[in-house]
Amino acid sequence: MEFSLFFLLLSCFFFSTDAAVFSLVNKCSDTVWPGIQPGAGKPQLMNGGFQLKPGETVTINAPTGWSGRFWGRHGCSFDASGKGTCDTGDCGGVLECDGAGGTPPATLAEFTLDSPKDFYDVSLVDGYNMEISISPSGGSGSCRTVKCLSDLNQRCPSGLEVKKKGVTIACKSACLAFDTPQYCCTGAYGSPQTCKPTGYSKAFKSACPMAYSYAYDDPTSIFTCQNANYSIVFC
Ligand SMILES: *[C@@H]1O[C@H](CO)[C@@H](O)[C@H](O)[C@H]1NC(C)=O
Repeated sequence: MEFSLFFLLLSCFFFSTDAAVFSLVNKCSDTVWPGIQPGAGKPQLMNGGFQLKPGETVTINAPTGWSGRFWGRHGCSFDASGKGTCDTGDCGGVLECDGAGGTPPATLAEFTLDSPKDFYDVSLVDGYNMEISISPSGGSGSCRTVKCLSDLNQRCPSGLEVKKKGVTIACKSACLAFDTPQYCCTGAYGSPQTCKPTGYSKAFKSACPMAYSYAYDDPTSIFTCQNANYSIVFC
Protein backbone atom coordinates (compact mmCIF):
# COMPACT_ATOMS: atom_id res chain seq x y z
CA MET A 1 0.00 0.00 0.00
CA GLU A 2 2.56 2.55 1.09
CA PHE A 3 4.93 1.26 -1.54
CA SER A 4 2.47 1.70 -4.38
CA LEU A 5 1.70 5.22 -3.19
CA PHE A 6 5.42 5.89 -3.07
CA PHE A 7 5.89 4.65 -6.63
CA LEU A 8 2.89 6.62 -7.82
CA LEU A 9 4.37 9.81 -6.42
CA LEU A 10 7.79 8.89 -7.77
CA SER A 11 6.43 8.29 -11.27
CA CYS A 12 4.48 11.55 -11.12
CA PHE A 13 7.71 13.30 -10.27
CA PHE A 14 9.74 11.68 -13.02
CA PHE A 15 7.23 11.45 -15.83
CA SER A 16 4.93 14.39 -15.60
CA THR A 17 6.63 17.40 -14.06
CA ASP A 18 7.43 19.82 -16.84
CA ALA A 19 8.51 17.44 -19.59
CA ALA A 20 6.93 18.89 -22.74
CA VAL A 21 5.29 17.30 -25.74
CA PHE A 22 6.09 18.90 -29.10
CA SER A 23 3.62 18.29 -31.93
CA LEU A 24 5.11 18.98 -35.34
CA VAL A 25 2.39 19.67 -37.89
CA ASN A 26 2.79 20.04 -41.65
CA LYS A 27 0.15 22.38 -43.08
CA CYS A 28 2.21 23.03 -46.21
CA SER A 29 1.09 21.66 -49.56
CA ASP A 30 4.34 19.74 -49.91
CA THR A 31 6.51 17.53 -47.73
CA VAL A 32 8.66 19.10 -45.01
CA TRP A 33 11.64 17.33 -43.43
CA PRO A 34 11.90 18.83 -39.90
CA GLY A 35 15.39 19.15 -38.43
CA ILE A 36 16.00 19.26 -34.67
CA GLN A 37 19.26 20.42 -33.12
CA PRO A 38 19.56 20.06 -29.34
CA GLY A 39 21.41 22.65 -27.25
CA ALA A 40 24.85 21.74 -25.92
CA GLY A 41 24.63 18.66 -23.71
CA LYS A 42 20.91 18.08 -24.38
CA PRO A 43 19.59 14.81 -25.81
CA GLN A 44 18.70 14.19 -29.44
CA LEU A 45 15.02 14.04 -30.32
CA MET A 46 14.08 11.77 -33.26
CA ASN A 47 17.82 11.52 -34.13
CA GLY A 48 17.54 15.11 -35.35
CA GLY A 49 15.33 14.70 -38.41
CA PHE A 50 12.48 12.91 -40.19
CA GLN A 51 9.96 13.26 -42.99
CA LEU A 52 6.59 14.95 -42.41
CA LYS A 53 4.02 14.67 -45.19
CA PRO A 54 1.33 17.29 -45.84
CA GLY A 55 -1.40 17.03 -43.20
CA GLU A 56 0.73 14.82 -40.95
CA THR A 57 1.43 15.41 -37.22
CA VAL A 58 4.26 13.80 -35.25
CA THR A 59 4.46 14.11 -31.46
CA ILE A 60 7.78 14.13 -29.65
CA ASN A 61 8.46 13.98 -25.90
CA ALA A 62 11.17 16.30 -24.65
CA PRO A 63 12.65 15.80 -21.19
CA THR A 64 12.61 18.42 -18.45
CA GLY A 65 15.13 21.17 -19.11
CA TRP A 66 15.56 20.41 -22.82
CA SER A 67 16.69 23.18 -25.15
CA GLY A 68 17.15 23.26 -28.88
CA ARG A 69 15.82 24.42 -32.21
CA PHE A 70 13.50 23.10 -34.89
CA TRP A 71 13.46 24.07 -38.55
CA GLY A 72 11.90 22.80 -41.75
CA ARG A 73 13.75 21.46 -44.77
CA HIS A 74 12.28 21.72 -48.23
CA GLY A 75 12.90 19.97 -51.50
CA CYS A 76 14.77 17.03 -50.04
CA SER A 77 15.50 13.70 -51.60
CA PHE A 78 17.12 10.94 -49.59
CA ASP A 79 18.07 7.41 -50.56
CA ALA A 80 17.18 4.33 -48.52
CA SER A 81 20.19 4.88 -46.27
CA GLY A 82 19.07 8.45 -45.46
CA LYS A 83 21.64 10.25 -47.58
CA GLY A 84 20.71 13.02 -50.00
CA THR A 85 20.19 16.76 -50.13
CA CYS A 86 17.62 19.43 -49.43
CA ASP A 87 17.07 22.71 -51.29
CA THR A 88 16.77 24.58 -47.97
CA GLY A 89 17.76 23.80 -44.38
CA ASP A 90 20.07 20.92 -45.33
CA CYS A 91 22.08 19.50 -42.38
CA GLY A 92 25.01 17.92 -44.16
CA GLY A 93 23.19 15.71 -46.65
CA VAL A 94 21.50 13.38 -44.16
CA LEU A 95 17.89 12.72 -43.14
CA GLU A 96 18.78 12.45 -39.43
CA CYS A 97 20.73 15.59 -38.55
CA ASP A 98 22.19 13.92 -35.44
CA GLY A 99 23.37 17.13 -33.77
CA ALA A 100 24.05 19.20 -36.90
CA GLY A 101 22.18 22.44 -37.57
CA GLY A 102 20.54 23.48 -40.81
CA THR A 103 22.42 25.47 -43.43
CA PRO A 104 20.98 28.98 -43.33
CA PRO A 105 18.78 30.60 -44.44
CA ALA A 106 16.19 28.75 -42.37
CA THR A 107 13.36 29.93 -40.15
CA LEU A 108 13.97 28.59 -36.62
CA ALA A 109 11.67 27.70 -33.73
CA GLU A 110 13.85 27.92 -30.60
CA PHE A 111 13.15 26.61 -27.09
CA THR A 112 14.73 26.65 -23.65
CA LEU A 113 12.46 24.68 -21.31
CA ASP A 114 12.17 25.01 -17.51
CA SER A 115 14.65 27.82 -17.02
CA PRO A 116 12.64 28.13 -14.77
CA LYS A 117 9.96 29.09 -17.31
CA ASP A 118 9.94 27.91 -20.91
CA PHE A 119 11.39 30.50 -23.30
CA TYR A 120 10.54 30.25 -27.00
CA ASP A 121 10.82 32.28 -30.16
CA VAL A 122 10.73 32.21 -33.94
CA SER A 123 14.00 33.50 -35.36
CA LEU A 124 14.86 35.01 -38.73
CA VAL A 125 18.38 35.92 -37.55
CA ASP A 126 19.72 33.23 -39.89
CA GLY A 127 17.18 34.09 -42.57
CA TYR A 128 13.89 32.60 -43.67
CA ASN A 129 12.89 29.56 -45.67
CA MET A 130 9.31 28.77 -44.64
CA GLU A 131 6.40 29.86 -42.48
CA ILE A 132 6.46 28.59 -38.88
CA SER A 133 4.22 29.14 -35.88
CA ILE A 134 4.51 27.98 -32.26
CA SER A 135 1.33 27.47 -30.20
CA PRO A 136 1.57 26.59 -26.51
CA SER A 137 -1.26 24.58 -24.97
CA GLY A 138 -2.20 23.82 -21.40
CA GLY A 139 0.46 26.02 -19.78
CA SER A 140 0.29 28.93 -17.38
CA GLY A 141 1.61 32.44 -17.84
CA SER A 142 1.41 34.67 -20.90
CA CYS A 143 1.80 31.73 -23.34
CA ARG A 144 1.21 33.48 -26.65
CA THR A 145 1.11 31.92 -30.09
CA VAL A 146 4.09 33.14 -32.11
CA LYS A 147 3.63 33.26 -35.83
CA CYS A 148 5.71 34.00 -38.83
CA LEU A 149 3.09 33.28 -41.44
CA SER A 150 3.98 35.85 -44.06
CA ASP A 151 5.65 34.36 -47.13
CA LEU A 152 8.95 36.24 -47.00
CA ASN A 153 10.12 34.40 -50.11
CA GLN A 154 7.62 36.58 -52.01
CA ARG A 155 8.75 39.73 -50.18
CA CYS A 156 12.48 39.07 -49.82
CA PRO A 157 14.50 42.32 -50.06
CA SER A 158 16.55 42.55 -53.24
CA GLY A 159 20.03 41.06 -52.80
CA LEU A 160 18.94 38.55 -50.13
CA GLU A 161 17.12 36.01 -52.30
CA VAL A 162 18.20 32.38 -52.67
CA LYS A 163 16.82 31.16 -55.99
CA LYS A 164 16.32 27.85 -57.67
CA LYS A 165 15.35 27.91 -61.36
CA GLY A 166 14.45 31.59 -61.01
CA VAL A 167 12.09 31.06 -58.05
CA THR A 168 12.98 32.46 -54.59
CA ILE A 169 13.10 29.49 -52.21
CA ALA A 170 14.66 31.24 -49.20
CA CYS A 171 15.63 34.71 -48.00
CA LYS A 172 18.98 35.45 -46.34
CA SER A 173 19.36 37.74 -43.39
CA ALA A 174 21.54 40.79 -44.09
CA CYS A 175 24.15 39.31 -41.73
CA LEU A 176 24.29 36.14 -43.79
CA ALA A 177 24.35 38.01 -47.12
CA PHE A 178 26.83 40.79 -46.27
CA ASP A 179 28.63 39.54 -43.11
CA THR A 180 29.37 42.99 -41.69
CA PRO A 181 29.55 43.99 -37.97
CA GLN A 182 26.55 46.30 -38.37
CA TYR A 183 24.31 43.55 -39.77
CA CYS A 184 25.71 40.77 -37.57
CA CYS A 185 25.85 42.80 -34.30
CA THR A 186 29.54 42.03 -33.81
CA GLY A 187 32.60 44.18 -32.98
CA ALA A 188 31.65 47.81 -32.33
CA TYR A 189 28.02 46.76 -32.95
CA GLY A 190 28.11 43.96 -30.36
CA SER A 191 25.52 45.32 -27.91
CA PRO A 192 21.83 46.18 -27.92
CA GLN A 193 22.78 49.87 -27.58
CA THR A 194 24.93 49.90 -30.72
CA CYS A 195 23.22 47.31 -32.92
CA LYS A 196 19.98 48.85 -34.12
CA PRO A 197 17.41 47.72 -36.69
CA THR A 198 18.41 48.24 -40.32
CA GLY A 199 16.33 48.57 -43.46
CA TYR A 200 16.73 44.83 -43.99
CA SER A 201 15.79 43.76 -40.46
CA LYS A 202 12.82 46.18 -40.59
CA ALA A 203 11.58 44.44 -43.73
CA PHE A 204 11.69 41.12 -41.82
CA LYS A 205 10.01 42.68 -38.79
CA SER A 206 7.18 44.12 -40.83
CA ALA A 207 6.55 40.72 -42.42
CA CYS A 208 6.82 38.82 -39.10
CA PRO A 209 6.38 41.22 -36.15
CA MET A 210 6.69 38.48 -33.49
CA ALA A 211 9.91 36.96 -34.85
CA TYR A 212 13.54 37.88 -34.19
CA SER A 213 14.60 40.03 -37.14
CA TYR A 214 18.19 40.62 -35.93
CA ALA A 215 20.34 39.48 -32.99
CA TYR A 216 19.18 42.07 -30.41
CA ASP A 217 15.50 42.03 -31.23
CA ASP A 218 14.66 40.45 -27.83
CA PRO A 219 11.99 42.78 -26.39
CA THR A 220 9.35 41.94 -29.02
CA SER A 221 10.51 38.45 -29.94
CA ILE A 222 10.99 36.26 -26.89
CA PHE A 223 7.99 34.62 -25.20
CA THR A 224 7.49 32.60 -22.03
CA CYS A 225 5.09 29.99 -20.72
CA GLN A 226 5.17 27.35 -18.00
CA ASN A 227 4.38 23.62 -18.03
CA ALA A 228 2.97 23.69 -21.54
CA ASN A 229 3.00 21.49 -24.62
CA TYR A 230 3.86 23.11 -27.94
CA SER A 231 2.61 22.74 -31.49
CA ILE A 232 5.13 23.74 -34.14
CA VAL A 233 3.29 24.26 -37.39
CA PHE A 234 4.96 24.53 -40.79
CA CYS A 235 3.00 26.87 -43.11
C1 LIG B 1 0.86 17.42 -22.79
O1 LIG B 1 0.57 16.29 -23.58
C2 LIG B 1 0.51 15.08 -22.83
C3 LIG B 1 0.33 13.94 -23.80
O2 LIG B 1 -0.73 14.19 -24.69
C4 LIG B 1 -0.62 15.16 -21.81
O3 LIG B 1 -0.65 13.99 -21.03
C5 LIG B 1 -0.38 16.36 -20.92
O4 LIG B 1 -1.46 16.52 -20.03
C6 LIG B 1 -0.21 17.61 -21.76
N1 LIG B 1 0.15 18.72 -20.89
C7 LIG B 1 -0.47 19.88 -20.95
C8 LIG B 1 0.05 20.93 -20.02
O5 LIG B 1 -1.41 20.11 -21.69
